[in-house]
Amino acid sequence: MNKCFIGGNVLSIIDDIKRLKKEKNAVILAHYYVCDEVQEIADFVGDSYYLSKKATEVPESMIVFAGVNFMGESAKILNPEKTVVMVDANADCPMAHMVTPEKIQEIRNKYDDIAVCCYINSTVQIKAYSDVCVTSSNALNIVKSLPNKNIFFIPDGNLGRYISKEVTDKNFIFNDGYCPVHVKITKDDILAKKSQYPNAKVLIHPECIPDAVELADYAGSTSGIIDYATKSDNKEFIIATEKGVLYELKTKNPNKSFYTVNDNQICPDMKFVTLEKIKNVIENTENVVELSDELMVGAKNALEEMLRLAK
Ligand code: 13P
Ligand code: SF4
Repeated sequence: MNKCFIGGNVLSIIDDIKRLKKEKNAVILAHYYVCDEVQEIADFVGDSYYLSKKATEVPESMIVFAGVNFMGESAKILNPEKTVVMVDANADCPMAHMVTPEKIQEIRNKYDDIAVCCYINSTVQIKAYSDVCVTSSNALNIVKSLPNKNIFFIPDGNLGRYISKEVTDKNFIFNDGYCPVHVKITKDDILAKKSQYPNAKVLIHPECIPDAVELADYAGSTSGIIDYATKSDNKEFIIATEKGVLYELKTKNPNKSFYTVNDNQICPDMKFVTLEKIKNVIENTENVVELSDELMVGAKNALEEMLRLAK
């Protein structure tokens, strides 16, 4: 279960959201990790790359972000003229804060010919100090396409190590950031599930620790995992990422079976997003994302470089 509606009349709240969206010219973008009810009513649901691209394409003047802060911030940076509102301003990705500008400067001073490659799960300030942003769905291709010999991959050490194994002609410098949710998916838990379901394929997110990723049949972004399971002839899958993806997996594949690895595959920040809060933020134009021009300019360069290189 990936439910988090806590009270009130669900149908009347959904009707209110539909009405308010029209009145306020609003569109709802949601990540696969938010609750089922929210994914169901969102206009677009996707992985981090899809959502950042979609934010540049939607015609509505208000973007309602059902996700964590770095997602709404990226939407604002790419669309400064739009009103971007977070469903819950406290929904923040801890990993986004796990590197400092001082650390980036230290590495820049130490290495020539370096690209600072910043996972989109990062603060605006960190993006502004970086050369290019990446997401888990485009990191491999973007890093490969960079002319630089040295790559400082921030903030996620696990995603950085995963990419480095596939790109052997570059020198990687890693940061020690991590996703507190994905690091709880252990190798032993996967092996235990695999012995319970020997025919299941293991699909994993590369934010997981390397010895867990090594066991997988496929590693990729949330969209990559959903696409793989949907196209596969296999009928059973062990899903090693946040459990919110199960909603789309089951919707697209009603005749296949999906098993979680353990009981910890829950991102608490993503679960802050509820239908009631969506209604309130649209109605009152609350939690508006506001960023200084100075930070936005630097961060915009890194994000636009990602959109250009990912094409
Ligand atoms: P993707 O949806 O891009 O795979 O990202 C996963 C994630 O952890 C988002 O916070
Ligand atoms: Fe951050 Fe991990 Fe939650 Fe994604 S799942 S928002 S990386 S804490």
